[in-house]
Amino acid sequence: MTLAEDVARYYAARAPVYDETAGYTDAQAERLREPIQARYRTLFTGHTVLEIACGTGYWTRAIAPAARAVLGIDIHAELLAQARRRCASLPHVAFEVADAYELASIPGGFSAALGIWWWSHVPRERLPAFLDTLHGKLRPGARVLFADQLPYEGHRRRQDPRGNTLEERRLPDGRRFWIVKNFPTEAQIRAALARSAEEIEYRERPDERSWSVRYRLRAAAANRAGRRCVARAAPPRREDESCKPAGP
Ligand SMILES: C[S@@+](CC[C@H](N)C(=O)[O-])C[C@H]1O[C@@H](n2cnc3c(N)ncnc32)[C@H](O)[C@@H]1O
Repeated sequence: MTLAEDVARYYAARAPVYDETAGYTDAQAERLREPIQARYRTLFTGHTVLEIACGTGYWTRAIAPAARAVLGIDIHAELLAQARRRCASLPHVAFEVADAYELASIPGGFSAALGIWWWSHVPRERLPAFLDTLHGKLRPGARVLFADQLPYEGHRRRQDPRGNTLEERRLPDGRRFWIVKNFPTEAQIRAALARSAEEIEYRERPDERSWSVRYRLRAAAANRAGRRCVARAAPPRREDESCKPAGP
């Protein structure tokens, strides 16, 4: 099994307890997340957003009131069923099962993209191709935000030969998994984005135990990635049609 498959297998097992174990049902944590939600809403105001690995749609729900449209993708239908319930009252939000490394069925032309707690699960050797695939779905100049966790205590970890950090996770029922959980430095993140991004803003927020990077997609990068996607996958669609997520 590949590292990416290990991650997917772990989240399949965690799906029934994801919200609870992620702290999304905790009222006090919810109050602490309110300013984060407000920041993200501001960032995506008026945008057509492609959200990668959206899980149960917690952040989809948070940004949706300001966005023009949101399409959340995740590899697990069970998580997306929860996301659909969470966003049931939002007709401009849709969800689709898709592999973030392929996105073959996903239309192009989005003006923004979002990935929360996802970058850390991408094996280092797959990061360039993942970013190219994502960028191929975006318009030139699109806004992108990734946010993830700063290092924390309490888990066993080891390194693999490619420099990935593998972390042991335990589910409430006792099952154990080893999954890739990287904690990239600012320099590594900037290096990964150097070819395709401009206006890169990296920030660490220790009080929120997170880092984030936001950037604008260079026109040349969108065109380059888009050409590669078109060559690999479906024929291109008209942009005005393709940036609208299908109905929920
Ligand atoms: C840490 S969770 C983050 C979920 C959500 N973004 C959040 O912040 O609550 C990681 C997510 O990645 C999804 N995932 C794992 N492998 C994936 C893949 N290859 N393509 C798309 N999603 C994947 C999992 O199903 C899970 O929902």
